[in-house]
Amino acid sequence: MDASSRLAELRALIHQHNYRYHVLDDPRISDQQYDGLFQELLALEEAHPELITADSPSRRVGGAPLAGFTQVEHRIAMLSLDNCFTESELTDFHERLQRYLNEPVISGYSVEPKLDGLAVELVYVHGVFSLGATRGDGRSGEDITGQLKTVRAIPLRLIEPFPERLEVRGEVYMRRDDFARFNEKQLAEGKPLLANPRNGAAGSLRQLDPAVTASRPLRFFAYGVADPAITGCTHQYGLLRWLSERGVPVSPEVAFCPDPEAVLRRYAELRDKRDLLPYEIDGLVIKVNDFSLQQRLGVKTRAPRWAIAYKLAPPQASTTLNDVIFQVGRTGAVTPVAVLEPVPVGGVIVGRATLHNEDEISKKDLRIGDTVLVQRAGDVIPEIVRPVTENRTGTELPITMPQRCPACDHDLHREPGEAATRCRNPLCPAQRLRALIHFGSKAGLDIEGLGKKSVEQLYESGLLRTIPDIYRLTSSEVAALPGWGERSAALLLSAIEKARQPPLDRFLSAIGIRYVGETTATLLMNHFGSLAALRAAGTEDFIAIDGIGERTADQLTNFFQEPELIDMLEQLDTLGVRPAAPSLSPSHQTLSGMVVVFTGSLAGLSRDEAKKLAKEHGAKISSSISRQVTHVVAGEKAGGKLAQAEQSGKTILSEEEFLALVSTSSDSSTK
Ligand code: IVH
Repeated sequence: MDASSRLAELRALIHQHNYRYHVLDDPRISDQQYDGLFQELLALEEAHPELITADSPSRRVGGAPLAGFTQVEHRIAMLSLDNCFTESELTDFHERLQRYLNEPVISGYSVEPKLDGLAVELVYVHGVFSLGATRGDGRSGEDITGQLKTVRAIPLRLIEPFPERLEVRGEVYMRRDDFARFNEKQLAEGKPLLANPRNGAAGSLRQLDPAVTASRPLRFFAYGVADPAITGCTHQYGLLRWLSERGVPVSPEVAFCPDPEAVLRRYAELRDKRDLLPYEIDGLVIKVNDFSLQQRLGVKTRAPRWAIAYKLAPPQASTTLNDVIFQVGRTGAVTPVAVLEPVPVGGVIVGRATLHNEDEISKKDLRIGDTVLVQRAGDVIPEIVRPVTENRTGTELPITMPQRCPACDHDLHREPGEAATRCRNPLCPAQRLRALIHFGSKAGLDIEGLGKKSVEQLYESGLLRTIPDIYRLTSSEVAALPGWGERSAALLLSAIEKARQPPLDRFLSAIGIRYVGETTATLLMNHFGSLAALRAAGTEDFIAIDGIGERTADQLTNFFQEPELIDMLEQLDTLGVRPAAPSLSPSHQTLSGMVVVFTGSLAGLSRDEAKKLAKEHGAKISSSISRQVTHVVAGEKAGGKLAQAEQSGKTILSEEEFLALVSTSSDSSTK
C-alpha cells in the first residue's frame, strides 16, 4: 500500500477509535494499540510532510507557543445560568415559566449534569474544527484553538451530515482519576500539584504553550450549540443525541424528564451517586426541552429564562483535626492552618484547611482531636464547617495562638479591631521569604524563572535575603546551584534585567504594602505619577484620592516612613531599579488593572464606543458586578447594577469622570 492510502487509513482508524472511546465509551483496542497507530501516523507524516492534512490527528500536538491570547467575539453571546438551591425554588421556576407562557404547555425538560470545568465554544466550518475559545465575559473570550486541539475528546472533524458552520458549546473538564494520576506523577517528579480538577482544567487551557496543555488529561462534553435552528433539531434532548451522532461527546447522565416531579427524582438520584461519577458536578442544569418554547421564553441580560442550575450542596466529609500549625505570611499575619487526617472530599484528598484567625477558631469552638466536618466549595480552599461535638471524649485539647512568632521568635501582637495576629519583626525570615516570593510572582513583577521553588532555593542558599538582593544576583552564582545551568541562569538574569524598569503600579503591588493591591496601586500611580512624588505625600494627600480610604492612607504613610523601607528603596535606586509611570510612553494605559462595568446610557458616546475606549486604555470590561469588578461607569437611568455596585463598595464614575480618565492618558501620549 502506498504512503498516501496508508495515511488515510490510519487517520480514519484513529478517528474511529477516538469516537468509540470518547463518544460511545466503548473502546475496541487497548491504549498501547492506539499509541501504536498514532506513532505509525507520525512517522509516515514525517517522511511525507506534503501529505499532512489539517484534520489529521497528528495536528493535535505541536502547535507553536503563543506570545499572548487574542480575543475572539462570540457570534452569539454565551450566557450564564440562574441558580436555585431547593425543591420549592425549582417548583417556582416551573410555575413561573407556565405563567409566562400563559398555558401549561411545558412538555418536559432536558436535565443535565452541571460539570465543573471551563466553558468553551468550538467552531466547525465545513465539519472541520477551526476555532476554539473560552467563554470569557460571554461576549468575547480567548482564542485557545491550539490548546483545544490537544484535547482528544474534541473531534477535529464532524461526522456527516453537518451544517456549513456549527458552534458547539460545552465544558472541558478533568476526570477525578486522571487528576489523581496526574498529581501523583507531578509529586514523583517534584513538580507543582493541581489544586483540584476544576483548576486543573481551567489552568491547563490557559497555557500559552499547547504542548503543556497536551500533557494534561483533559476531556470534553458538549451541552449545546449557539444556534439550534440550523441543526434541524426541535428539542434540546434530541440535539444532544444529534451531537453525539456527529462525533461530539455528550455526558451519558443527560436525562429527559416530563415534569417537575421527575426532575426532582433525577436530582435526588444524581445527588446520591455524585461521588461515584468519574467527574465532579456542582449541580444539574434544567432546560425547557422544546426549542420553540425556549424561543418564546427568551433571555434576560445574563441568563436565559428557559433554564436554571439546580445546585448541589458542596461536598462534605468528616475527619479528625490532628494538629494546628501557624504560618507567617508576607505582611506578618500568622494564620492557623488545620492539619487533618487526610480524607476524600468529593473525590479530592484534603489534608489541610485554613482556620483564618484566632476569632474563627473560638467561633467554631474547635479543639485538637475533634472530629470535624470539612467542606470543599468550588475552587475555594477547604474549610472546617464545625466540630462534631457529639464525638468528644474529653481528651481534646484547646487551640491557642502562639505568643511568639514560629519563624523568628519575636513577640506577636494583635491590634484592637484587627482579626490578625502579627509578627512585627521586619527581619522575620518567614515574612522575608514570603515577600520575596510575592515580588517575583504574577501578582508582583512577574519575573520569569523566579517562582516559589526558585526563590526558596535562592533563599536557602543565602543568595537572596532581601528584595534588592534579586538585582544583585550574578549568573555564575545562580548557575552553580543544584538544578541550574548556564542557560537557565542566563534566562533568569535577563528576566530580572527586564524588571529593572517596572511600571510604578506593578512595583507598588510587588513590594507588598498592606491593603495595596493592583487597583489601589494604579490609583496611586495615576495620581502621583512618580515614586518620588508618592514618597513625599502624607495621609491627607492619600485620603484625597477617590477610592482610597483612611485605613489604606494610614498604612501608606507608615509604610513609606519605615526606616527599613526607606533603606530598601535607596538600595534599589542605587542598583538602577527605576519604577516609572508608563504615562511617559505612548503605549501608556491609564485604566490598566481596572475591571469596568458600564450601566445606564451615556450622553456623549455609545456603549460600544465607551467599551472600546476603556479597552484601548487597558481596562477589562465586565457585563455584571462581580468580585473582580473595580469600577462602574454610571450613565443616565442607571438602575440595579448601580445600586449593587454601591452596596459592594465599587468605585462609581460618572461619564465625565470616565472621559477625564481616558483623556489624561491620550493627552500625555501625544506629548
Ligand atoms: S447551558 C444558555 N448546560 O454552567 C445556558 N451550562 O452558569 C448556558 N455548565 O458557563 C449554559 N454544564 O460552563 C449549560 N449542561 C450544561 C452545563 C453548563 C455546565 C456551565 C457552563 C456555563 C455555566 C453557566
